[in-house]
Amino acid sequence: MKGLILSGGSGRRLRPITHKTAKQLVPIANKPILHYVIEDLVGVGITDIGIVVGDTAEEIERSVGTGSRWGADITYIKQKEPLGLAHAVLISEEFLGQEKFVMYLGDNMFEDSLHEVVEGFEASSTNARLLLSKVDEPQNFGVAEIDEQGNIKNLIEKPEDPKSDLALVGVYLFDSTIHTAVKTIEPSDRGELEITDAIQWMISKEKNVEHRTLKGWWIDTGKKDPLLLCNELVLDQIETFHLSQISETVTLKGDVVTGENVEIIDSKIQGPVVIGSGVKIEKSTIGPYVSIGDDCKIEYSSVERSVLMEKSLVSGVTQLTKSVLGREVQIKGKPTDSQEPTSVMLGDRTKVELEND
Ligand code: DAU
Repeated sequence: MKGLILSGGSGRRLRPITHKTAKQLVPIANKPILHYVIEDLVGVGITDIGIVVGDTAEEIERSVGTGSRWGADITYIKQKEPLGLAHAVLISEEFLGQEKFVMYLGDNMFEDSLHEVVEGFEASSTNARLLLSKVDEPQNFGVAEIDEQGNIKNLIEKPEDPKSDLALVGVYLFDSTIHTAVKTIEPSDRGELEITDAIQWMISKEKNVEHRTLKGWWIDTGKKDPLLLCNELVLDQIETFHLSQISETVTLKGDVVTGENVEIIDSKIQGPVVIGSGVKIEKSTIGPYVSIGDDCKIEYSSVERSVLMEKSLVSGVTQLTKSVLGREVQIKGKPTDSQEPTSVMLGDRTKVELEND
């Protein structure tokens, strides 16, 4: 089987973070989401992987390369415009040929084992295997309506009035029937070739479309709160590991990972926390649930439940919480006794000075 990862698109909902950068490269516990996706595919023996890329192709290729570090062989497939998930399949036909494949959205992460998901599919006569997950806001997803026999009756993309709370997860298994389906459907009202419409066509032609419901968590990381939740779920699994010597002036609790050349002075770290290489922390309280990218500096601050990308500075911010900082961000507070929490999402190279009253 082959793998097809979709990493085009525009990432509108994670703006300003992904205004210029690819949302699939936003780090979770200091590793880009896209790398988790590749590892997942390689973990089930899928090494021939196509990645559909759009405007952010260069950045994605820089981060992933040839795939050799995972033992994978990556083919980049350029999509000129984000014309829909089914359009991404359409332009990948040459790469996929007649083989069965796993299509994985590059901004999705889920807890269940991909092994269980793909098991038996290659040898079966199933045309498509879908994953569903119960969600609180089905109107934000493709939604499946199930008939009395337990089969999918209808699939509707982001319905205003959802008929169930079962969302279509961004991992799909297809055989070559999908190539006929994506050529048959018309663009939707929002001008995209929808994968839900292609699958609906397969159902209407009585193709064998089966589904499984996920047991564990699943997150479409394309928005700030799900992204931070995903960061917490992944950090819950880390185990203490230090590549740097930690000074005696530091109180460490819970699981903490540090990269190389980390310098922490007079601070308290409450894990789970991941600290990248070259990070400097002084007179601060960090955690729980914080991921700090390489070369960040945090001083006279308190940071919890947040993701900081590389080279950011947090200085004098009394309670930074539930925040996502892009690369090279600077956020400064004024000395104060105020415990008012600050929660922000800042794009690359933003500079912010907080006014305290
Ligand atoms: O996350 C699951 C949901 O993903 C499903 O429930 C929906 O049925 C499905 O349409 C999709 O909805 P989203 O609105 O989340 O899709 P998004 O535009 O975020 O694109 C998903 C990924 O595919 C993302 O990594 C960008 C990439 N993409 C998207 C489009 C529209 C492409 O590579 N090319 C495209 O043309």
